[in-house]
Amino acid sequence: MPQESNPDEQAEYPADQSPAIRRVMMPRDTNAVGTIFGGTILAEIDLAAATEAHKHHAGMVVTVSMDKIDFKAPVYVGDLVSFFTRTLRIGRTSICVQVSVWSQRRFGGGQYAHVTEAQVTMVAVDTNFHPIPVGTMPS
Ligand SMILES: CC(C)(COP(=O)(O)OP(=O)(O)OC[C@H]1O[C@@H](n2cnc3c(N)ncnc32)[C@H](O)[C@@H]1OP(=O)(O)O)[C@@H](O)C(=O)NCCC(=O)NCCS
Repeated sequence: MPQESNPDEQAEYPADQSPAIRRVMMPRDTNAVGTIFGGTILAEIDLAAATEAHKHHAGMVVTVSMDKIDFKAPVYVGDLVSFFTRTLRIGRTSICVQVSVWSQRRFGGGQYAHVTEAQVTMVAVDTNFHPIPVGTMPS
């Protein structure tokens, strides 16, 4: 693993928060160049956003948009990756969530790197997948 400093010096590891998801990255998660596949990170971001949305809506939610996804630094096999979430906006049927991803390096000193940042919009839906107001249950 190359030597690195925190690629995002402005950001601080949110040590006082509990992540929505935390997992160790395994060899099965790699891409063709040996680092962690971006799609793996995106899948966890999606799940983390849904977990945050469920704080506001107990029923089904689906992802309508993932935008402004910045991959700031690579993630390596063995890293412990934490997905921190924050609700940005609650609309009539939608919930917009900020997801901040931090990787604790397993090899190379255990330092934290701010690896990815994303905004995800989830929509509350009924059993026909039609939007319903946040906080209601389908009739
Ligand atoms: C999510 C879905 C039900 C929304 O249906 P829709 O007909 O677009 O519904 P609406 O136009 O009423 O929008 C619903 C809410 O989503 C928001 N929204 C719609 N498109 C959006 C987009 N591209 N980005 C952000 N928000 C969006 C709307 O602003 C609205 O929010 P509000 O009620 O809080 O104001 C529909 O697009 C869908 O089924 N998408 C597929 C979802 C899915 O399968 N996700 C898994 C990934 S494959």
